[in-house]
Amino acid sequence: MSLHPDLLPTGDPTVGRRRDWGFVPDAEKFGVGVVGLHEGHTMLVALRASGLCRAVAGCDLEEDKRRAAEEVCPGLWTTSDYDEMLARKDVQIVAIYTPDSLHAEQIEEAFRAGKHVVCTKPLLNEVSEADRLLRTAKKTGMRLQVAQSTRFYEPFLRMRELFDQGMFGKAEVVDAQYTHRMDWFYKKSPWSMSETHWAYLGLSHPVDLVRQYLGEIKEVHAYGSITALGKAHDLNSPDVIAATLVSSDGRIGRAFGNYGIHELPKGRSLVECHLQGSAGSALARYPDLRLTYTKKDGTEIDEDWTHSMAGYYFRHELEGMHYGEFCNVIDSFAAAITDDTPNHPDLEEGVGTVRVMHAIVQSLESGAPVTLS
Ligand SMILES: NC(=O)c1ccc[n+]([C@@H]2O[C@H](COP(=O)([O-])OP(=O)(O)OC[C@H]3O[C@@H](n4cnc5c(N)ncnc54)[C@H](O)[C@@H]3O)[C@@H](O)[C@H]2O)c1
Repeated sequence: MSLHPDLLPTGDPTVGRRRDWGFVPDAEKFGVGVVGLHEGHTMLVALRASGLCRAVAGCDLEEDKRRAAEEVCPGLWTTSDYDEMLARKDVQIVAIYTPDSLHAEQIEEAFRAGKHVVCTKPLLNEVSEADRLLRTAKKTGMRLQVAQSTRFYEPFLRMRELFDQGMFGKAEVVDAQYTHRMDWFYKKSPWSMSETHWAYLGLSHPVDLVRQYLGEIKEVHAYGSITALGKAHDLNSPDVIAATLVSSDGRIGRAFGNYGIHELPKGRSLVECHLQGSAGSALARYPDLRLTYTKKDGTEIDEDWTHSMAGYYFRHELEGMHYGEFCNVIDSFAAAITDDTPNHPDLEEGVGTVRVMHAIVQSLESGAPVTLS
């Protein structure tokens, strides 16, 4: 698997990995309708920088979220009724940013309404929904892009690009983590305590990164525990998870997450992917805009986009993050639809990650390794 050509460097450091699409009139851009306007608000702002898509509609049950969306996108059509948004002809792509347990149904409805879908991570939190969605996608011909944001962040895009050029040889071990103090999230989004599991909500980033390099996973063994911060919120499933993943050809990956950690010391990053290859290794980080890697002769290179791209990824005039990744995701998807080329991670690849996360939960519950068929 390689990067979509539209994400390759342009040679212009101010544009970074984004292709200069030239002038595409609004009428020719994909109209995007976003459902779930908390993190979905970030997508609306991200769309301002998009070359191929434009925000046309927003949907949320809460009025203040709809008003805030109209403020950042003057002229945006908004509703509290998802079906009403799906009925609009100017919506060609639906971007789903609702609580995890709603994704399956909303994807299914969008496919049936003839819309392509960008769905945030985790794609699903019930593996039982997967086959039905795969069938509906086939029947309707609609496509899905998992908005697996970390893959689309500069150091991770660059690591994949160098890997595809053979810089690190064959991936032998992938050690990935997403570690973040998340007790604020329980208050903001109470569904995160009762309707999902950190194996999905948090571990989807490192599991996806391991699968991006190791491919299919045949066995999983996971351990978990609950932190003091988790116990203080009556969490009843682990907020610390360490999972060993074995690929179909016997290579080892590790996916780790701690969501009750106190602040990280400076030396570590929230998301890290340490790719250990047969000819070199690389470490990509988030939110630091840094990739460190060794070349075959042992020289260590540190690429740092803090000055060139922090404005694109973090939009300093606003509060928040992920703006650049979301724009990269949706533009690469739009380009793949237009060119009729594959997009990654697509529905099938996303379902593969869901199956691994499901196996992690089974292993946490049984204490034993779980084999994936
Ligand atoms: N890195 C990333 O890509 C990233 C970051 C944060 C969150 N997420 C994902 O985004 C999703 C949402 O997370 P969040 O933090 O925004 O949650 P949130 O609870 O803050 O917001 C969810 C929003 O969905 C709305 N909503 C709920 N049901 C709805 C319905 N039936 N129709 C319309 N609107 C509805 C709610 O009113 C709320 O505004 C989760 O799946 C989460 O994992 C992804």
